[in-house]
Amino acid sequence: MANIAVIGMQWGDEGKGKITDLLAASFDMVARYQGGHNAGHTVHVDDRKLILHLIPSGILHPGVLCLIGCGVVVSPDAMLREMAELRGLEVKIGDNLAVSRKAHLILPYHTGLETAGEESLGDRKIGTTSRGIGPAYRDKTGRTGVRMGDLRHPGLLEEKIRHNVEQTNSILGLTGKTRFDTGKILADCLSFAERIDGHIRDVSLLIDRKLREGASILFEGAQGTLLDVDHGTYPYVTSSSAVAGGIGPGLGVGPDKIDGVLGIIKAYTTRVGEGPFPTELHDEGGAYLREHGGEYGATTGRPRRCGWFDAVAGAYACRVNGVRRIVLTKADVLDGLEEIKVCTGYRWKGERLDGFPAESWILEDVEPEYVTLPGWKKPVRGARDESDLPAEFRDYCRFLEDRIGAQVAVVSTGVDRREIVLIEAALEGLLDVERLRARIFG
Ligand code: IMP
Repeated sequence: MANIAVIGMQWGDEGKGKITDLLAASFDMVARYQGGHNAGHTVHVDDRKLILHLIPSGILHPGVLCLIGCGVVVSPDAMLREMAELRGLEVKIGDNLAVSRKAHLILPYHTGLETAGEESLGDRKIGTTSRGIGPAYRDKTGRTGVRMGDLRHPGLLEEKIRHNVEQTNSILGLTGKTRFDTGKILADCLSFAERIDGHIRDVSLLIDRKLREGASILFEGAQGTLLDVDHGTYPYVTSSSAVAGGIGPGLGVGPDKIDGVLGIIKAYTTRVGEGPFPTELHDEGGAYLREHGGEYGATTGRPRRCGWFDAVAGAYACRVNGVRRIVLTKADVLDGLEEIKVCTGYRWKGERLDGFPAESWILEDVEPEYVTLPGWKKPVRGARDESDLPAEFRDYCRFLEDRIGAQVAVVSTGVDRREIVLIEAALEGLLDVERLRARIFG
């Protein structure tokens, strides 16, 4: 069984939750390698809707070992809340959940620093999820971060927290009752440590041992390529390596362990927060996609900005991730449209650009070139296999494949886990399609 990565190819919210949930039971391990509880993976199980922010969605499947790698930043509050919520749904959490001793903690002063930072940027604010993600990564690279393993050393833990709290109080000019309090943060960390201790592991070693025993692993990306700290629309990005290349440092595994990368991409585009978005629709077209696609943030509830499929960004995401096969999600949202547009190029100051620009201020200013394709006459929703898909939709897929340079291997045709079409020929060598089909459809 191949080890595969599930990676978002746009600005997050591509529907990775559904796909990882579908695939998880076919793997022995599911691992998160970056981000934190800024992610929101919506999973539908029967008529229950569950939003997981930090814990891999594999946790819903008995026997799957779920791993949180050192590239993830962990909020103790979020972790305990999610564990409690899952236990409330009678999901077992024991030795099926491990978190890296090298993973950094998000502590209350990170959220304080983030709020102040966003305020100071004024019109240039990032529009973050306000989860303390950026400041936690800043402490990590600044070498002052608190790691999961530190929870086992109260003396060192206190020293680190005291230093960071004093720095933060001084930077933010906090005095009196508004000051962050070392004692309170330390006490909360120690209480967290007691409850979490059994889950703190050497995740890299654990993965290595399991792989040697013949186990398989699914790497679960969060956010998306265009939010990657290096390859995204900087500075309007998150603070981690969301691309497939982040898997190595984020888990402590070598690149030879990744057999394939499945890119998850919506049949149109959305974004939350600030930053450039060339194909954004500011008219009723955008509102149509938002309402029909239920495009409201899973983490913050913010309405998502919506627009047409951007094949320039799609081709770029294929390149930086090594994606050759994609899962096209939310195809059903385009059902009923007379015409569908796809952006195939950008013009800037009258010139055609060669690909996806590195500078956000250029991207902000580009003029997208569109090709208009006919809508499909019968709905994609309800299709059970490839032959049920409308001819115009298949043409749409061929067009996208040609422009981005990857094959459509799976089409998601609705919210329910059974609303999915597997394209066998495209999945060959990557997934055991028969086994997957049996798991999904019984
Ligand atoms: P942060 O990750 O909270 O620092 O936010 C930075 C940017 O990434 C903001 O534009 C957020 O809206 C966006 N972002 C972070 N996580 C997600 C996600 O899971 N889906 C979509 N956008 C996200």
